[in-house]
Amino acid sequence: MAAKSIIKVAAICGSLRKASYNGGLLRSAIELSESTDGMTIEYLDISPLPMLNTDLEVDGKYPPVVEAFRQKILQADCFLFASPEYNYSITAPLKNAIDWASRPPNVWANRPAAVISAGGGFGGGRSQYHLRQVGVFVDLHFINKPEFVINAFQPPAKFDNDGNLIDPEAKERLKAVLLSLKEFTLRLQQGN
Ligand SMILES: Cc1cc2nc3c(=O)[nH]c(=O)nc-3n(C[C@H](O)[C@H](O)[C@H](O)COP(=O)(O)O)c2cc1C
Repeated sequence: MAAKSIIKVAAICGSLRKASYNGGLLRSAIELSESTDGMTIEYLDISPLPMLNTDLEVDGKYPPVVEAFRQKILQADCFLFASPEYNYSITAPLKNAIDWASRPPNVWANRPAAVISAGGGFGGGRSQYHLRQVGVFVDLHFINKPEFVINAFQPPAKFDNDGNLIDPEAKERLKAVLLSLKEFTLRLQQGN
């Protein structure tokens, strides 16, 4: 019997805040993946990446911390972004990480992705649209549905003081995103 393959998801958070709600969404996704067949999620910390400056590229090499991040991106089967909305767009740290991994060769290319967000009124939704637009150029293929946004500030509380997701309905919706990402990744890998 052929061994069942396990999809490797790289999870990236656009917030560097310790008690980040978006970080909490990723922790919850990791927990949910533990009871989901066929997928494993690794959280990639983007906080050590320097601000992009092509002067840091020497003899075709990137700084070691950037090289390590690029390797992780290259090894992933697909991506899960938790993307807070800053002034109607994605955050600077997230754009910085995307830009580093887009430098030649672009290590995002031809992989599926999903985006989730927690934020104010629109739950971070506007950042999702900007991220999808960036994805066009770096050749990421975002799942269209289900969409996942959550208003982090509207009572009753959806997160605890450490940024952990405590809302059972949101966890159900998050699980549906994971299943959709898994199914889409398998479809792309199998070419149908
Ligand atoms: C510079 C800045 C700009 C922001 N702009 C928006 C915005 O456009 N829309 C929104 O819903 N929230 C906005 N917020 C509030 C964030 O949604 C909120 O800080 C949220 O907690 C960030 O996600 P995190 O908890 O994962 O850090 C902004 C916050 C900052 C710091």
